[in-house]
Amino acid sequence: MRSKNVVIAVALVLPLLGAGCVKEYSFKRDIHPVLKEKCASCHNGAGEGYAASGFSVASYETLMKGTKFGAVVIPGSSVSSTLARAIEGKTHASIAMPRTGSPLSKEEIQMLKAWIDQGAKNN
Ligand code: HEC
Repeated sequence: MRSKNVVIAVALVLPLLGAGCVKEYSFKRDIHPVLKEKCASCHNGAGEGYAASGFSVASYETLMKGTKFGAVVIPGSSVSSTLARAIEGKTHASIAMPRTGSPLSKEEIQMLKAWIDQGAKNN
């Protein structure tokens, strides 16, 4: 009897989580504005970050292309994405980003990671 109640409770709560709590982030609305504000001064197709790494946040295409060595966003896997690790301070300090200026807020970091985990779509 008791376990049946648990099953019913879970069955009722799961759709609520799916509908309300897990927000789908948009590149245009949520992600690009943050990258433009916090990263573009050095990574916009010019600037010291672009000169050193070839990484530009000017567009979705340049973001996904990554650095001259390869991708820094792995769709579906923020833990494998250099970009996410760099903004969380999980890389070597020399590539902790942004290099100078104000770091990303906890909310911005969570949002970027969620967008990557949701497939890093051009939405
Ligand atoms: C003040 C300038 C500056 C700002 C602002 C900046 N970067 Fe950088 N970035 C650099 C420099 C310089 C490098 C090259 C570092 C190196 O390889 O030694 C770099 C390298 C990188 C790399 C390549 C790391 C690698 O694998 O070698 C990534 C990814 C990156 N930046 C992401 C970002 C993101 C995301 C932001 C915004 C949150 C940002 N950067 C803001 C200067 C900056």
